[in-house]
Amino acid sequence: MSRRLSLLTPSGRLTLGNLLGALRPMRAAQAEADCFYGISDLHALTMPRSPDTLRAAIAEQATLLLAARLDGSTLFRQSHVPAHAELAFLLECVATTGELGRMIQFKEKSRRRESVRSSLFTYPVLMAADILLYSAEQVPVGDDQRQHVELARDLALRFNTTYGPVFTVPEITVPPAGARVMDLAEPTRKMSKSGPGAGSIALLDPPDVVRRKVARAVTDSDTGLDAVRTDRATKPGVTNLLEILAACGGSAEGITTYGALKAAVADAVVAELAPLQERYRELAADPAHVDEVYRRGAERCREVTAPVLAAARDAMGL
Ligand code: ADP
Ligand code: NA
Repeated sequence: MSRRLSLLTPSGRLTLGNLLGALRPMRAAQAEADCFYGISDLHALTMPRSPDTLRAAIAEQATLLLAARLDGSTLFRQSHVPAHAELAFLLECVATTGELGRMIQFKEKSRRRESVRSSLFTYPVLMAADILLYSAEQVPVGDDQRQHVELARDLALRFNTTYGPVFTVPEITVPPAGARVMDLAEPTRKMSKSGPGAGSIALLDPPDVVRRKVARAVTDSDTGLDAVRTDRATKPGVTNLLEILAACGGSAEGITTYGALKAAVADAVVAELAPLQERYRELAADPAHVDEVYRRGAERCREVTAPVLAAARDAMGL
């Protein structure tokens, strides 16, 4: 059975975009692959945030992954598997400052900042360690992370050439076309957990908050009889609402006004989130159970990754 690895960074509250674009395909993958789903809590430390904020984000995300029925996978926290940080250091001895300086995401995230954590610079190496430790043969990746996975390939190849054949060199594949949910207030950029929030639906938003955010969604001034239609270029807001409606199992049939469309979207999203929020409440009442799931997951990760780390250490002369 092939392995699949996905990490989610606890850098904010998981959104409807994360559910439709990530958690849903992750749930589907459980039927055909041995899935390792992690909370990349170390990655979260590359940007300043308070320990309490981080702790709360990790706890919420850990519980949400279970509530989203990812319990058919090995769930773990990156920081509970020391092999990730240790292999990252070994790979830093293979990576060069030149190639890390070419990473577009680093350039974007460090722009206009007075002080940048050195871990933000080396973060792509930690991501390479995440991938290579699990010997994944294929890594489905979207455009924003493609450069990082190419780096992981380069580092694996360079390591294997320099020190011996330790790593599986992952092949980059195109992920199955999942839903791409745009921000409701600014429909030309994607809904994000690290965004400002007004146009972003958090998975734990109560129904009245969901309804208010959808009611305020940006549309356009088109009032024609066929105003409710998909046109990504000129009607990004309406297109986004129609796609959310379809992804949440609703139908736009017979809807001719933006008011009616928004009411239907709000109903569909509230209905989509209700069972998830119900399971979340049950799980949140038993944090010891959630902790135990992640403790067992980390144990399995340590077992799976130990031989790869040992081979890398040995090959380098440690
Ligand atoms: P965010 O942008 O919310 O911080 P990440 O960049 O950490 O999220 O992405 C986590 C996962 O969620 C990735 O698989 C990404 O493709 C998916 N994802 C994030 N935002 C969206 C969105 N608006 N629509 C669809 N999928 C998304
Ligand atoms: Na992000």
